[in-house]
Amino acid sequence: MRVFQHVQDIGDLSLALKEAFEIKNDRFKYQYLGKNKTCMLIFFNNSLRTRLSTQKAAMNLGMNVIVLDVNQGAWKLETERGVIMDGDKSEHLLEAIPVMGCYCDIIGVRSFARFENRNDDYEEKILNQFIKYSGRPVFFMESATVHPLQSFADLITIEEYKRNARPKVVLSWAPHPKALPQAVPNSFAQWMNAADVDFVVTHPEGYELDPKFVGDAKVEYDQMKAFEGADFIYAKNWSCPGVTRPDDYGKVISKDMSWTVDTKHMAVTNNAFFMHCLPVRRNMIVTDDVIEAPTSLVIPEAANREISATVVLKRMLESL
Ligand code: CP
Repeated sequence: MRVFQHVQDIGDLSLALKEAFEIKNDRFKYQYLGKNKTCMLIFFNNSLRTRLSTQKAAMNLGMNVIVLDVNQGAWKLETERGVIMDGDKSEHLLEAIPVMGCYCDIIGVRSFARFENRNDDYEEKILNQFIKYSGRPVFFMESATVHPLQSFADLITIEEYKRNARPKVVLSWAPHPKALPQAVPNSFAQWMNAADVDFVVTHPEGYELDPKFVGDAKVEYDQMKAFEGADFIYAKNWSCPGVTRPDDYGKVISKDMSWTVDTKHMAVTNNAFFMHCLPVRRNMIVTDDVIEAPTSLVIPEAANREISATVVLKRMLESL
């Protein structure tokens, strides 16, 4: 595997899950695969889970790890061609990327949507430059539009906890004070569409996800109706994707607190498990009662980030 971006990159999902559970059972089984190989993790944005779980995954495989916070200690990077670099940016991404590639075997990159230009974000302008110029396999650690390591971990979690063969999984928008990217819901929709689940998306009007990711998934604008009989509730905020309201791309167009997931919402489900990728704003996205209930899977999901990353790095090491 040279690029890990979309669900298709992992191939057959049942095989990927089998490999995930094999690794979960013995996470050091491939501890010699990464000997003398270096994994470089580049962060343009903050992280807790991705940073720690991916480092742990690389260490499980015996790799060396280099982590760079671009905004803390590196030269400030220009990303646009043609710019006269007479400002505060000392280095261009077009030199920085191949230099980074010189020092490692595999690169992971986190670079969120900038919300300046929808096309730039949805064309994955930054990550595509890493793919083109690093000369290394590149895995996405949350880009402008996708977060596949998270979705793979979510799928592993659903597989572990499901109580029937084809569970009903609901992705629900929930309120948040700040404008958040669409990467998590985009990827979650893409992975759930590929998995054997009954998938429903619910959000206020104006929050329609890009058709490239939401595909033919059922969209239900009545949140309580969507929750009826659900086995898993996956809550997440996202800003306006600009599909039905192009001028509002990246903006907060609703803070409707009636969408906060509370015990009243959960009561109409099939005793559903609650999921969220974290970090989560309590009593905006979800109430204390719901996130602290025995049916909350937020910690097992985070734990499975180590497993999804180990599978992805293993596949990349095998293709070197
Ligand atoms: N879920 C997730 O990606 O968490 P971090 O932003 O802390 O890495």
